[in-house]
Amino acid sequence: MQQGWTVLGLLRWLTDYFGDKGISAARHDAECLLGAALAKDRVGLYLCYDQPLQADELDRIRPLVKRRAAREPLQYILGETEFWSLPLQVSPAVLIPRADTEVLVEEALARLQEQPGPVLDIGTGSGAIAIAVAHASGQEVEALDVSEAALELARANVARNHLTERVRLRRGDLYRLDGGPYRLLLANPPYIARIELDGLMPEVAAHEPRLALDGGPDGLDAYRALAAQAPQRLVAGGWLLLEVGDGQAEAVAALLAAAGLNRIYQRRDYGGLVRVVGGCRS
Ligand SMILES: C[S@@+](CC[C@H](N)C(=O)[O-])C[C@H]1O[C@@H](n2cnc3c(N)ncnc32)[C@H](O)[C@@H]1O
Repeated sequence: MQQGWTVLGLLRWLTDYFGDKGISAARHDAECLLGAALAKDRVGLYLCYDQPLQADELDRIRPLVKRRAAREPLQYILGETEFWSLPLQVSPAVLIPRADTEVLVEEALARLQEQPGPVLDIGTGSGAIAIAVAHASGQEVEALDVSEAALELARANVARNHLTERVRLRRGDLYRLDGGPYRLLLANPPYIARIELDGLMPEVAAHEPRLALDGGPDGLDAYRALAAQAPQRLVAGGWLLLEVGDGQAEAVAALLAAAGLNRIYQRRDYGGLVRVVGGCRS
């Protein structure tokens, strides 16, 4: 990047450059990074397309571009993302919350509307699910993670969303659940089969925490543990609601049934894939 760029000129160049690096949303990412470096939103950027960029502005943009070209996720570079339209801080200590996970939040809210009660978010990471459920339901939510670094970030996100009175974070292990009994057990657990981890896109494989991804040899370790423990941690009529990966729904449904849960059901996301499997303790 030399001197003499206008905003639009650089945006076009970056879009091609990111495209060549295999980045799919190249124009979007270029806009976000340029916007971050210039402290402008997308409309602000649009309004100054013809503006020449100063040397100090180019100096701020350069390292961000370098990181994204190396396939570091945009959200880690920006340090934040949105989930359920709420702002969340993210870092390499936590999985970047995915929009698909909002389907799990929708399911949780529907169950709470039928009957409120204690909720536990297992493997909370950035706090995304707990924060969204507490925000939208007005209910108290407990959330745990085995990672202290994740809990620290989740704490910051809870405070940022003014939910310190409603979300209680604690260290805990999904393989040794305690507390309850709960009306809802929610989890988006690590579910990638270990052998598939290195074949994931570079943004995930090289940057997101293995602890958040590694589901053991077949990807189902956490589901086995959660299904087995759910009956003793749920109230009668309580639900275990699990996010599942592509192709895992039948196996997870079988685990819930084998653990004695019933009314097993599957819910698709807006892309048509089964994203949530749920089961009820009768
Ligand atoms: C797929 S991430 C989900 C994060 C967040 N709930 C979301 O949906 O964005 C899985 C989370 O489980 C946590 N985790 C992994 N192993 C765990 C364990 N044994 N006990 C508790 N949490 C664990 C990870 O630290 C990570 O935050």
